[in-house]
Parts: sequence; C-alpha cells; structure tokens
Amino acid sequence: MSRIMDIMIAPSLLASDFGRLAEAAEQSELAGAEFLHFDVMDGSFVPNLSMGPAAVKCLRPVSKAIFDVHLMIENPDQFLESFAHSGADIITVQAEACVHLQRTLAQIRKLGAKAGVALNPATPLSALDYILDDLDLILVMTVNPGFGGQEFLPQMLDKIVSVRERISRADHPIHLEVDGGISKETAGIVARAGANVLVAGTAIFGCWDGIASGIRTVREAAIDGMKT
Ligand code: DX5
Ligand code: ZN
Repeated sequence: MSRIMDIMIAPSLLASDFGRLAEAAEQSELAGAEFLHFDVMDGSFVPNLSMGPAAVKCLRPVSKAIFDVHLMIENPDQFLESFAHSGADIITVQAEACVHLQRTLAQIRKLGAKAGVALNPATPLSALDYILDDLDLILVMTVNPGFGGQEFLPQMLDKIVSVRERISRADHPIHLEVDGGISKETAGIVARAGANVLVAGTAIFGCWDGIASGIRTVREAAIDGMKT
C-alpha cells in the first residue's frame, strides 16, 4: 500500500508567453509550484507543435522545480536521452504512441529520470496492466491532447478513481497526475477523485491576477475538494 496525497501543482508552460519562458519558470517556482510541466508536441501524434529538449535545457538553470516532460509525440524512444540529458526529472510518454511500452519506461529510468505514462481519454485502464512496477507517474488526460484551453471531460472522474485504486495496491509510490481543463472549478473534484498532481495552463498563465494567484487558486480549490 502506498499513497502520495499531498497536492502538487504543475504549471503548463504551453499557456505561457513563449517570449518570456524563463520568467514564467521563475515565477512559478517562487509561487510554490512543485512541478513545471513541458508539453512536447510533434504535429503528428497531436495536431500541434510546441517545444523540444532545448527549452528544457535553457530553463534548467533558472528553476529547481521538478521538470515534468509530457511527450505527445510518435516514437518517443528517439528523444528520451536528449530530454534526460537536458534536465528532465520525469518523462511521460503516451501509451498510444509506444509499441514496446515496458521497454520505453525501463529506458527512461535507466537514463536516471522517473517514468510516466499518459492515457488519452478513450484509452482503457488495461493499458496499465503489467507495467505498474515500471511506473513513477500515471497521467490521466482529462482532455484530448494537443491544445491548451479545452474543456474538462467529466467522464474522466471515474477513471481517476480507478487509477487511484490501482495505485493503492502498488508497492511503491506512484503519482496520479491530471492534465487538461484544470481550474478552480475542476481542481476540487479531481483531487477528491484521487489526483495528487494537477497540471494547469490557462488557469495559471491566463489568470487575470497573475501566475502566483492562479497557482494559489488551483491549489486551494484542490485542497477544499479533498475536505468535502
Ligand atoms: C494538452 C496539454 C496540457 C495543456 C493543459 O495537450 O497536455 O498540458 O497545456 O492546458 P489547460 O490547463 O489550458 O487545459
Ligand atoms: Zn501536458
């Protein structure tokens, strides 16, 4: 039995001003965000392009946060080394993009990073069968990946509950991360369902009151949700 239940916030740089990434990284850390989430897109697995290992490398000296790299790319194996050497602490691959998923996860750990797997909304939980031992993080996508600012899919709540059950049976700690449409309206219900790492882009970098306020608002909503 193993649980990691402290709420951690992972601001998604995808929603930040790409001309001021360093500032976004610094402000997030100063405001207490434990993670910094990098959305990597290849224009093939998802219909959008974003950033690569260079962004991770350039931001590494300005932040001590846990660098949480979410690869929404085909054939991620070819870039694992590059992201690990650039300073990624966690590398998460999409289960749908991996032919030899167990090997990919083992390779991530061999490179010295924590290994994560992300499940698209329509991907069944059976994708986790036989790989729990190889995982440090499970990312439940609460939107279809590709873009920030999409609406949270409420049907993912049952999935979060089921993933939390599986994690509670594991004999090592595994984070349960959620990504997509997380805001003050949804943070409470995902935390109550069992998520402990909340990715938020628009709710943080689009917050009218600033990044720190966005982080505080999401965290407070999550903690409130766990109390009810
Ligand atoms: C979606 C990305 C998310 C995205 C979340 O493909 O994986 O990390 O940036 O953005 P918001 O919080 O705006 O839904
Ligand atoms: Zn993401």
